Amino acid sequence: MEKGKSFSGGRKYTNGEITVYWKQDACIHATYCYRELIEVFDPGRRPWVDMHGATTDRIIKTVNMCPTEALTWKWNDEEKNKIIGPEQTNHIKFRRPELMGSGAEKIPEQPVTVKIMRDGPIVVKGSFELISSGNKKVISDSIISICRCGKSGQMPFCDGTHRK
Ligand code: SF4
Ligand code: FES
Repeated sequence: MEKGKSFSGGRKYTNGEITVYWKQDACIHATYCYRELIEVFDPGRRPWVDMHGATTDRIIKTVNMCPTEALTWKWNDEEKNKIIGPEQTNHIKFRRPELMGSGAEKIPEQPVTVKIMRDGPIVVKGSFELISSGNKKVISDSIISICRCGKSGQMPFCDGTHRK
């Protein structure tokens, strides 16, 4: 099984057709990926992503479900990335342009959306100011998960501890 390669902030995995990026600090362990496709995303296995466990279509569908965009993907054929549709929500062209390298399109400013995860954090997406313990931080076209259980070791952000 391919071990995956590191990139800034996470690891990436490929099956030759697409590459899936996983950003550890954005993962709130919402479990969507492994409830949907344990053949590919299995946290009890090392490496935890097996890109040969399912078809490309099923992997894309599952990555698009990740609520925090800890998981994103792109085609390995750059020509195909140019014509990707917005319905493929976690394609990195729309979500994480820093992964695209030079020439990436700037994401247009979007309204702020707030999603409350069941028994989990608040996921806030867009451009806004985050004020915490007197510190102010500008979040620009990004997505963060704010702890709601009070037990995170990385306050104010969720680190997945709520599952325990
Ligand atoms: S946040 Fe995304 S990557 Fe992390 S467990 Fe949930 S669906 Fe999987
Ligand atoms: S809500 Fe995830 S650690 Fe608190």
